[in-house]
Amino acid sequence: MSTRIKGKRVLLCVGGGIAAYKSAELVRALIAAGAEVQVAMTSAATHFITPLTLQTLSGRQVATSILDAAEEATIGHIAIAQSCDVVLVAPATADLIARMAAGMGDDMVTTALLATTAPVVVAPAMNSVMFAHAAVRANLAVLESRGCKVVQPDHGELACGYEGPGRLPDAPVLLEALENALSSRSFDLDGKTVVVSAGPTREPIDPVRCITNRSSGRMGYAVAAAAARRGARVVLISGPTALDCPEGCRRVDVETAAQMAAEVEKAATAADVVVMVAAVADYTPSTVAGQKIKKKGEKLELTLERTTDVLASLSALPGSRILVGFAAETENLVEHARDKLVRKGLDLIVANDVSAANQGFDVPTNAAVLIDRSGNQEETGLVTKDALAERIVDRVVGLVEAANSGRGRRLQVRK
Ligand code: CTP
Repeated sequence: MSTRIKGKRVLLCVGGGIAAYKSAELVRALIAAGAEVQVAMTSAATHFITPLTLQTLSGRQVATSILDAAEEATIGHIAIAQSCDVVLVAPATADLIARMAAGMGDDMVTTALLATTAPVVVAPAMNSVMFAHAAVRANLAVLESRGCKVVQPDHGELACGYEGPGRLPDAPVLLEALENALSSRSFDLDGKTVVVSAGPTREPIDPVRCITNRSSGRMGYAVAAAAARRGARVVLISGPTALDCPEGCRRVDVETAAQMAAEVEKAATAADVVVMVAAVADYTPSTVAGQKIKKKGEKLELTLERTTDVLASLSALPGSRILVGFAAETENLVEHARDKLVRKGLDLIVANDVSAANQGFDVPTNAAVLIDRSGNQEETGLVTKDALAERIVDRVVGLVEAANSGRGRRLQVRK
């Protein structure tokens, strides 16, 4: 059972859905893990489970109202918000998620959520059609962009008779999410060197023309920023983008696939982790015209040749490092991604369908499937690129921890 939760003060915010009845079990599990639990409930939640039940199990008065003078004097919304180490919103109903996304402060739960600086874990639970609604997805994306961790609901038979995603996950899953939220506050990549490539490459045809692609660099920059926030030394090898270098990263600017290959390989020799997010050109013109090519006939033929596959070449470098790749696909997403994971000798691949709206190139959101060497597959749903970057870095931290404990790829010992 969880060790990071021991001694931590957890603020459990219970929303008004049928899954509220599970909060009794959740409080028991938190107490059993050694946490101190303060429960806050929305008014709707008190119709599904009584405050007395949760007070008895938590050993603390339950916060239900900001307008009750006596209650506010003892367990005020500011006090409970500022005295906790982590917040769990479970079950998070569609209404509660919407009020959080809108920044409302119209009851005990929403005011406490506005007044806290602790990490917030949100566990949505509702009818599967409601969960799939664009409004709910958009509100969850807003919460993620503000740093909330969203725990995906379980798939199964729902209390309303429907079958699908919407069930509140069991207590152990929620406790693990709390642990991760607590640990992500620490510098869990302290002392590690992470190389991230980002953006497009530009392959010159002549002095004024080039072959490039639609990558904005946002995803790679978000990964670099997330790794730097976790304490890593980050080298960001960037193709041409309009973005500012994220805080705490050292940026190396490149233009062509050949330059990208040379710089990544150079930086990778001293790296613990390489995340290749860059959309590297697979082909480059065989010859670059010294002068601007003047138009002549009806057709112009260019001869292209393969560039170095940077990721694939990294496995051949001396030493050992964690390798993460991306797979931008328009069909057979998982199949192609699995093939790349094996072919390029990767530890993790982030696969995204760039043909779908709101994901992939030049938009702030993305949806990905994370696949590791053991075949584990995690679907993120539509999230902001910042939130996806955090998820990727969470997985990188897991891979580094596994390597350090001898369970995964071994890392080199560095001075
Ligand atoms: N990549 C690389 N060097 C290249 C091309 C791609 O390191 N010359 C990396 C990308 O940064 C990404 C991963 O490989 O992490 C997948 O790139 P992608 O172009 O989608 O895959 P390919 O292996 O090139 O396969 P295909 O183009 O056939 O889809």
